[in-house]
Amino acid sequence: MTETRPKQGKSVFIRTYGCQMNVYDSERMADLLKPMGYAPASAPDDADLVILNTCHIREKAAEKVYSELGRLKKAKARRADAGADMTIAVAGCVAQAEGAEISARAPVVDMVIGPQAYHRLPELLARAARSRGAVLETDFAVEEKFDRLAAREADGPAAFITVQEGCDKFCTFCVVPYTRGAEVSRPVDAIVGEARALAAQGVREVTLLGQNVNAWSGAAPAGDNSGDWRLGELCRHLAKIDGIERIRFTTSHPRDMDDGLIAALGEEEKLMPYLHLPVQAGSDGVLKAMNRGHTAEHYVRLIEKIRAARPDIAISGDFIVGFPGETNEDFEETLALVETVNYASAYSFKYSRRPGTPGAAMRKQVAEAEKDDRLARLQALLERHRTDFNAAQIGRALPVLFEKPGRHPGQLVGRSPYLQSVHANAPDSMLGQIAPVRIEGVTPNALAGALNDEGEDAA
Ligand code: 5AD
Ligand code: SF4
Repeated sequence: MTETRPKQGKSVFIRTYGCQMNVYDSERMADLLKPMGYAPASAPDDADLVILNTCHIREKAAEKVYSELGRLKKAKARRADAGADMTIAVAGCVAQAEGAEISARAPVVDMVIGPQAYHRLPELLARAARSRGAVLETDFAVEEKFDRLAAREADGPAAFITVQEGCDKFCTFCVVPYTRGAEVSRPVDAIVGEARALAAQGVREVTLLGQNVNAWSGAAPAGDNSGDWRLGELCRHLAKIDGIERIRFTTSHPRDMDDGLIAALGEEEKLMPYLHLPVQAGSDGVLKAMNRGHTAEHYVRLIEKIRAARPDIAISGDFIVGFPGETNEDFEETLALVETVNYASAYSFKYSRRPGTPGAAMRKQVAEAEKDDRLARLQALLERHRTDFNAAQIGRALPVLFEKPGRHPGQLVGRSPYLQSVHANAPDSMLGQIAPVRIEGVTPNALAGALNDEGEDAA
């Protein structure tokens, strides 16, 4: 076969599924490919390289990849007819979990790259060009990966920084400990270096990412003899970087929510008053079967403690309905916990049986119709709380970080401290700035307001 791929002006299309860690990984893959001459393509059909950065958390997410591969097979054939090539890579958690099975099921795939191996993308592309079959790389090499990633390019005033990867908790429903591996923390200097580089490019808000972000730990930097740090110390340290005005972190586990982090939430103003703290279920029996390592009471007390430290904090959560053995009474306890905590936002899912996890083998799987019914009831309640929370912002002046132009001319869109989208009329010169916006209205997914000219205090 002749090499038909143009040597210059190559293009890449990356489709991202799943969580924010994948969004971060996709950005880093784009950064790695740029020096190799790959510019972003506007659609997969126009791309020399298509990367599907996949999610394995629920069956639906994993199956989406195969339907996309079906579409890509046709696009690749059309390009071949026109004399052009298309290299197809499956990256992310499906790649890690299914490995060679992917190319067996979808021979159109040229490369399978696990989430801890994508820094080897340049070598893998070269290998794929020489190879007849699919190239597979699913080693765990987290530290090597971070050492080898190129310098970051900021894309707007808010950025993600992965600080921790993997999970040692082994919740019985979850594939993450198998797809992302054991808990690994990046060292302080690497994180600070990335944050400084971003701040120098105008980034004002960083979100620290990790599957278990509050399990992060690391040695204090050289010259600081405060010993081992946990996430609270890291956040306080990052808050000292000039230009960084806001810090967030996600996703936290209740078991790792230590007093140092709670104190930092209370004392460090740059830490945003928003915490994603999944509980998954409200019944102690289900929590035990899920291997969560805490009771419902422990979680509710923890929320009280966090609210005592930071009274304006908004809490967000994740829930699973229909875990094996969950009875109607158990489910009622989830509803009761939601009533007690009053979430500002939440994600909720039907339990999905994931091969290889202990939950998949449990007896007393819950019928699909029952899961549908519970999910609808839970979501109605969560939606009521979310709407109430948003409506309660009307009349307040919230500090908004303007991130991008809005749909209407003269309008910008930004984020409130509580991660709500906020629309306001503002000049483009305010992009990347934080300014108080008086909230006047609420739509289902956003708030709308006006710049607060009087400069009133952002309550
Ligand atoms: N089924 C349904 N939801 C799941 N999650 C993780 N594994 C499963 C599963 N097997 C949910 C949890 C987790 C979120 C990221 O996805 O709520 O917090
Ligand atoms: Fe999965 Fe539980 Fe680990 Fe979260 S804590 S990634 S839900 S195993």
